[in-house]
Amino acid sequence: MTLPHIPQQQMAHPECRLQAAIFDMDGVITQTASIHAAAWKVTFDEILRQHATPGADVRLFDDHADYYAYVDGKPRIEGVRAFVRARGIALSAAEEEQAAERKDQRFIRIVHERGVKTFPSTVALVGALRAMAVKTAVVTSSRHGRELLQSAGIAALFDASLDGIDLDAQQLAGKPDPDMFLRAAAMLGSTPADSMVVEDAVAGVEAGRRGNFGLVIGVDRGGNAAALQDAGADVVVRDLAELDVASLQAAFQARRGALGWRIEAEGYDPDRERQMESLFTVGNGYMGVRAALDSPPPGSQCDLFIAGVYDRKRADLPYSEIEFFTPSGRADPYSELVPLPFPFRVTVSVDGMFLDFHGDGANGKKLRRVLDLHDGVLHASAVHQAPGSLRTAVRTRRCASLADPHLLLQEVVVAPDDHAHDVALAATLDEPELTTRHPHLRRLARTVEGDLETVRYVTRASRICICLVSRVVRAGNVLRRLVSVFTSRDDDDPAAAALAHSTSLDPGNIDALFAAHSAKWAQFWERADIRIAADTAAEQALRFGSYHLRLPLGADEHVSIGARTLSGRAYEGHVFWDTEIFMLPFYLHTEPLQARKLLLYRYHTLPGARRRARDMGCAGACFAWESTVTGADVTPTKIVLKSSGKEIPIFTGSQQIHVTADIAYAVWRYWETTGDEAFLAGPGADILFDTARFWHSRVSRDSHRCHIRGVVGPDEYHYAVDDNAYTNWMARFNLERAAWLARQSGTHLAEADEWSGVAQSLYIPQPDERGVLEQFDGFFALDEHPLPREERFKAPVSRLYDWQQINRLKILKQADVLMLPLLFPESFSDEAVAANYRYYEPITDHGSSLSPAVHAAIAARIGLRDDAERYWKQSLWLDLSNAMDNSMLGVHPAAMGGAWQALVFGFLGMRFSDAGPQPRPDAQQRLPFGWKGIALNIAYRGRIHAVTVGCGVEQ
Ligand code: BGC
Repeated sequence: MTLPHIPQQQMAHPECRLQAAIFDMDGVITQTASIHAAAWKVTFDEILRQHATPGADVRLFDDHADYYAYVDGKPRIEGVRAFVRARGIALSAAEEEQAAERKDQRFIRIVHERGVKTFPSTVALVGALRAMAVKTAVVTSSRHGRELLQSAGIAALFDASLDGIDLDAQQLAGKPDPDMFLRAAAMLGSTPADSMVVEDAVAGVEAGRRGNFGLVIGVDRGGNAAALQDAGADVVVRDLAELDVASLQAAFQARRGALGWRIEAEGYDPDRERQMESLFTVGNGYMGVRAALDSPPPGSQCDLFIAGVYDRKRADLPYSEIEFFTPSGRADPYSELVPLPFPFRVTVSVDGMFLDFHGDGANGKKLRRVLDLHDGVLHASAVHQAPGSLRTAVRTRRCASLADPHLLLQEVVVAPDDHAHDVALAATLDEPELTTRHPHLRRLARTVEGDLETVRYVTRASRICICLVSRVVRAGNVLRRLVSVFTSRDDDDPAAAALAHSTSLDPGNIDALFAAHSAKWAQFWERADIRIAADTAAEQALRFGSYHLRLPLGADEHVSIGARTLSGRAYEGHVFWDTEIFMLPFYLHTEPLQARKLLLYRYHTLPGARRRARDMGCAGACFAWESTVTGADVTPTKIVLKSSGKEIPIFTGSQQIHVTADIAYAVWRYWETTGDEAFLAGPGADILFDTARFWHSRVSRDSHRCHIRGVVGPDEYHYAVDDNAYTNWMARFNLERAAWLARQSGTHLAEADEWSGVAQSLYIPQPDERGVLEQFDGFFALDEHPLPREERFKAPVSRLYDWQQINRLKILKQADVLMLPLLFPESFSDEAVAANYRYYEPITDHGSSLSPAVHAAIAARIGLRDDAERYWKQSLWLDLSNAMDNSMLGVHPAAMGGAWQALVFGFLGMRFSDAGPQPRPDAQQRLPFGWKGIALNIAYRGRIHAVTVGCGVEQ
């Protein structure tokens, strides 16, 4: 299985020009495929007759279909094995060897009789490529490769050649393994990304794809085009006369450009399937659907999530985190995001045989998934090859419409490639394992009437009604489905709403519905896309992040973004400071109205935050550390390890109160960035005033200062600490801004004086002799803990096992003091930032996905380019590389937002003035290595500003 492009391998060549071309021989250069096929036919027909049941008809070797399906392009023994196995015949190793030998002798005999002919168009193209300084190689599994080239008189046309003898001598794997092509590219001094493969065999095209070659050309000498395309050929021609050097360069560049808009995964691996389901999630803010296959295999977490549909936590059911349970300790009816049944389920069968990835896994099956980021559509194409040679391709596409929040679209096309057997194709919303897989739901009804299927559920504690109506049309082997989704959160009668919605649409018109959806995505990309010269891989990863940051944005002001969006079950859909501090800047500068909506969510939770403050014995409002729809705090009070049953207390719910100031900070930044006075005077003021009241009542006073005691700062390894630098700094900011706003508006003047008074006397640590701010009172006196490299970048559960011990050590889970220069860049000199980076960076283990991006931003600011790039890549590719080994539970939007901030505020050093956004003057010299330039749009105060640094990118 190939993971989605792991970008380090994909670094674009600055010249972006095809450097090398690698040709298969038989059927591409030489007209020897028919000779091979004839030699195989005699050999296999003998075997088939020997093994035939007496009296029965013998189905002989088809020198076209069987040749291309089983033997073409493969080393000969593998060809023998593949074909006889498909016919249910078992040969010993010696018999296989003999068969291969007999075929070989026949082949040589026919070659001697007839001579070797070449394809003149191929020879001409090779010559033209060489004339344009493109290096050329020939690769063949045939043991007679060199001999044949010599006798055809074309050996000198190639800079390198590899044949079946080299394959054995160098122990290279045969096609579809990419080994031979990779070796040939290396012999030509080129990278796969800069080279093309030209092949007529399905196995060869697949090898080119698996090797991540920059372009793969399929040559279809008759009836094989669909199979070559399914195997991943970028271009399929009947003869190379259809191509010239200019069209090849154009196709190469188009693919290079398109690559930046696509995430691809080749193959099926049950162990990685849940990760794929997270990465390829589709969504539109109203809902998100994990990317399970259309016929989900066992073990799949094929969830549909609807924003705001929460229910009471089911602590007894082990379906969220991997290593622990999270009993809530509270009976909050809105404490867990509800996983709903999969809405895209279809079953496909040919002659009663199901085409899926159950049971024998990937045997005889191929799978390729492509997430088209530009259009917001997930494509999958599978090829199922049953024993006895039935070859059926299944291609699907799906999306959650951005043009219509209640609509899911799906299309399934079944293409029987070499048979005309019956295809059965069915779509259902039925969920047989409702009670175990979806314990929050009670099914109220399921009805099927004609092409309409309706299911209705109600959540058990929160009593939310959900209705899904699926409408299916089938034309031949094409199935089209529209699913309408409504809940009692958006309509008093969700069933009637879903039905009316469904019947107002025409499934036959699905292309137009897909197009309307993609048009919305295109509008988003106009604001959000970032172009980089010349690093396609970074562009691709940034787009992947922006795609996932776009997914959870909807119209509902009463929901916000969970720590894993709508892409997985981790953190049960809870909203953290991640949204305001890590993601919001991206929205402020690309989707400011959505940023406003996210702040309105907090505004609507003020009643819950006020209750929480009261419960803590305080005034004002204290926002929930983990929040859902009511503002109540739903942080678990403990976790219980599945392995040992050990209980670990969680202090963040009661002590991580900095979130309250983080939200006030976000309100302020929103106003600064948009100039939205009405918001500041209305909901913004309510948030700022009530949060200031909280801090005013929460501080403790000694004879000359105010302190904030008993907190957890961003670094969650330390609990019950006093005067956490980050918390105090943020609280001071909150108090000062609230006082300013009160005076501006001439309201709450007496309180404003009190808030200013507390802000002035609040303890803020001063730099020590090294210039370092102490993270909290007593941090410098903790025990040293040298941090081995291998202990970094791990999910933090193992650390929490020894939570009391960790509390005494100088080790950080994530950026804490270093958050301050990110949020207040102008309050710190470069020297002060460097001093704190030097102190804290070596003792931080990055147990949180939030941490690397902050380090990248800070390192970039102080000119530590190696560190900056290392940390940036870590966060940019966090999910694509599954760096924390937990992407199967959902993607990490805070890391994505953090990577965006590190680029914009760190590498580019963007600051804002009345003239708009300004990158730092030396930004070009600070770009990541190999980048010539970058272009992006930044929304600021009602305008979209085009920002370009360096060259090679167009706005
Ligand atoms: C981090 C928090 C973060 C939460 C959700 C935790 O591991 O320490 O800072 O808010 O994950 O992403």
